[in-house]
Amino acid sequence: MATRADLATIIEQQEEIFIRRQPESARLADHATQSLAGGVVSSWQISRPQPVWLSHGKGSKLYDVDGNSYVDLHGGYGVSLAGHGHPAILAAIRAQIERGTHFAQPTEAALSVAAELQRRFGLPLWRFANSGTEATMDAVHLMRAITGRDLIIKVEGCYHGHHDSVQVSVCPDDDSEDRGPADAPYSLPASTGIPRAITDLTLVVGFNDLDAVQRRLDEHEGQIAGMILEPIMMNAGIILPDPGYLTGLKELLHSRGALLAFDEVKTGLTAGPGGATGVTGVTPDIVCLAKAIGGGVAVAAIGGTEAVMSHVANGDYEMVGTFNGNPLAMAACRAMLTEVATPEAYERMEKLRRRAVEGLELEIARSGLDAQVVSVGAKGCVVFSADPVRNFRDFLRVRDAYSHAHWLFQHNGGVFLPPWGKIEQWLMSVQHDEADIDRFLANFATFAAAVRP
Ligand SMILES: Cc1ncc(COP(=O)(O)O)c(C=O)c1O
Repeated sequence: MATRADLATIIEQQEEIFIRRQPESARLADHATQSLAGGVVSSWQISRPQPVWLSHGKGSKLYDVDGNSYVDLHGGYGVSLAGHGHPAILAAIRAQIERGTHFAQPTEAALSVAAELQRRFGLPLWRFANSGTEATMDAVHLMRAITGRDLIIKVEGCYHGHHDSVQVSVCPDDDSEDRGPADAPYSLPASTGIPRAITDLTLVVGFNDLDAVQRRLDEHEGQIAGMILEPIMMNAGIILPDPGYLTGLKELLHSRGALLAFDEVKTGLTAGPGGATGVTGVTPDIVCLAKAIGGGVAVAAIGGTEAVMSHVANGDYEMVGTFNGNPLAMAACRAMLTEVATPEAYERMEKLRRRAVEGLELEIARSGLDAQVVSVGAKGCVVFSADPVRNFRDFLRVRDAYSHAHWLFQHNGGVFLPPWGKIEQWLMSVQHDEADIDRFLANFATFAAAVRP
């Protein structure tokens, strides 16, 4: 690997190129601080070296306000599986706008969406919300409401949105902080503004550590409502579950009267037609979906077993929201499920995934980089580590500087990956093609040549 100083110089050079290419973004970013807190519309858009202001998207491409075009592998943090301006999504939205976008009464599209989600995720009953945060919040409420227990278990490093119960041990990458032992991580608030009393209700375990869950259940017998996790971890690059881990979790939790909730906000539809549930064959008690299911429109869904959702049906837990299942979101979601995320589209994306993985692996072998490719469905990432990553503690050892340098080379070469280096993954869309993947591979080759040992 390049020495740290080499890499720092390379990053500096690439950041200079980046800034030179985007004077209008720099101007808007500066101007925006006068009206938008922090100069952006969501805090994670504050990225180094500067936020990129976009003009529009079309197909598999994004265009910034300086006129630069990019192959979009950012995917709007996991949303843009349909790509931009997909004809089926446009037609559905246009038709619905003519007929009204909000009534706060059910419309028929919700039935088609629920039927399709039933089929894909193997859970019978569904409700809707507007963001991943709302979906996981409802899942946690439901587990507590059903069991009458207050404690939940979450996985260290999993992000489930910004509500209090799950803003715990999300990305504790501050080295000054004591995270506790790997087999019994401390519960650490992931943000200011989260009361300690709430943080303490969330117990933390490592991913792929079944024994730790057993210990938590033993230590707090009869007090744990359930566990929420990403079945394939996607806010730490991509970390796959060990064989038997998810089945083991379900059996263990059920044996103690606790529930299992999968946060498929990122994996739903992108890992495969039935998300990680379909890929792994393990059906939890509750599934949370958002991001890609709306084809670019804000929508979330919560699916559950008959036993779980009977608590919603009988009014024991009131799952509410003014915009839940609004007609615009349902129309877009129906088009996404029935016309965009089709078997043919998954076949096409699988070919592109293989092309990307094979190309990257070839280049990694050629350049001698300590790196590996992890991918599932439309998602993938390069992990800059020679060792396999099974949990968040392994992930913390991955060198972020390489991920940031890679991001800069891709960006300057016309491919927009999500910022935040090693944390995020690529998302391709049903509109990407071989030329898009080849551009990504060519940029990777340029990067590898610059940083190889
Ligand atoms: C796995 C996961 N769950 C939940 C969320 C929260 O979703 P939202 O930002 O729509 O509230 C995210 C967002 O990135 C996520 O990655």
